[in-house]
Amino acid sequence: MPTTRTQQQRDHQEHGSPRERERAAARKTFIAEGFDLVAETYGTADEADAAFFRSNGVRLVQHAGVRPGDRVLDLGCGRGAVLFAAAEAVGPDGYVAGLDLSPGMAHATAADIARQGLRNVTARVGDAEDPGFPAGSFEAVLAGLMMFITPDPAAVLHAAHHILVPGGRFAMSSWGPVSDPRWTRPLDAALAYLEEPLPASSPRQGARGGHPAFDTPESIAELLRACGFGQVRTVAETSVHVIESGDAWWRSQWSTGRRAWLEKIPHARRDAAKSAALTALDELRDPDGVLRSETHLRFTVACREAATP
Ligand SMILES: C[S@@+](CC[C@H](N)C(=O)[O-])C[C@H]1O[C@@H](n2cnc3c(N)ncnc32)[C@H](O)[C@@H]1O
Repeated sequence: MPTTRTQQQRDHQEHGSPRERERAAARKTFIAEGFDLVAETYGTADEADAAFFRSNGVRLVQHAGVRPGDRVLDLGCGRGAVLFAAAEAVGPDGYVAGLDLSPGMAHATAADIARQGLRNVTARVGDAEDPGFPAGSFEAVLAGLMMFITPDPAAVLHAAHHILVPGGRFAMSSWGPVSDPRWTRPLDAALAYLEEPLPASSPRQGARGGHPAFDTPESIAELLRACGFGQVRTVAETSVHVIESGDAWWRSQWSTGRRAWLEKIPHARRDAAKSAALTALDELRDPDGVLRSETHLRFTVACREAATP
C-alpha cells in the first residue's frame, strides 16, 4: 500500500540532525535484533507469564472500545497479545493488521495467524513511526508496551493520527511506577556483571528503561495532545504475580526485551550474574517465603478529533 504522509510527519521524521537520525537508526536495529532473540519464547517463560501478557492485550482492546467490524492496526504486535484479542473483538467483519520492527516477531506471529486460519488478520515487518497506510484506514490504532521503546514516539503518534478516521481511537499501554524500588535490585545485580556499559542505542533510563515521556500520566497526555489527540485518559491497573522460583524468574528475564541487555554479559560471567541476581531476589520474599511481584500498568486512550493539528 502506498505511504501517504502529512507534511507535518515528513518534517518530524526527516528534520532531525544526521547524528540524531543515526542514533535512532542504531536504536531500531538494537530493538529489532533484541526482540528477534526472544521471538520464540516471548512471554512464555511459564504459564503465569503467558497469562500476564495475554490479559494485558485483552485489557488494552477493552479500554480502546474495539467493536465488531472495526479495522484495527496493532503497532509493535510482538507475539500477538493485543493482535489476537483485537481479532476476537472485531470478529469476521473486521480487520486487524499487526506491524513489528523485529522480523522474528512478525514472522512467528504471521505463522500463528495462519495456524489459526484467520483470514482477516495479518502481521508483517514494519516501523510504527512510518506504518505506510493511507489516511483514514483504521477505527483504532493500538500499541501494547511499545511506545516507550521506539526512539521517536511523537512520530508514531503523528502517523497514528493520520491513518485514523476522525473520531478513531489511539490506545496504548505502558509501565506504571515500580512501587517497590527493591525490585530493580535483582536485574541490577546481574547487569553489574557487564564488562562494558550498555550501548548508547540501548539506554536504561529509570527502572523500566523507557522513554521519559511515558513516566507519568501527565507527561503521556501532554505528548498525545501535542500530536493532535483529544479526550486523553489514563487508567492504572495493578496485578500481582507469584514467582514460582528463582529459575522461573531468570527464564522470564531472558524471554523478554531485557534479554538484549543480559546477552551483553560475557558467557564466562553469566553463572555469577545469575547467582547474584537470585541472591538479591531471595531477599524480596514475603514473610511467608513467597515471591510476589506487583506490576503497575497504564492504559491510555485518546481520540483523533476531526480537526488536523
Ligand atoms: C514489549 S514488546 C510488546 C509486544 C506486544 N505488543 C505485547 O503487548 O505483548 C514491544 C514490541 O514492539 C516492537 N517495536 C518497538 N519499536 C517498534 C517500532 N518502531 N515499530 C514496530 N515495532 C516496534 C518490538 O520489536 C517488540 O516486538
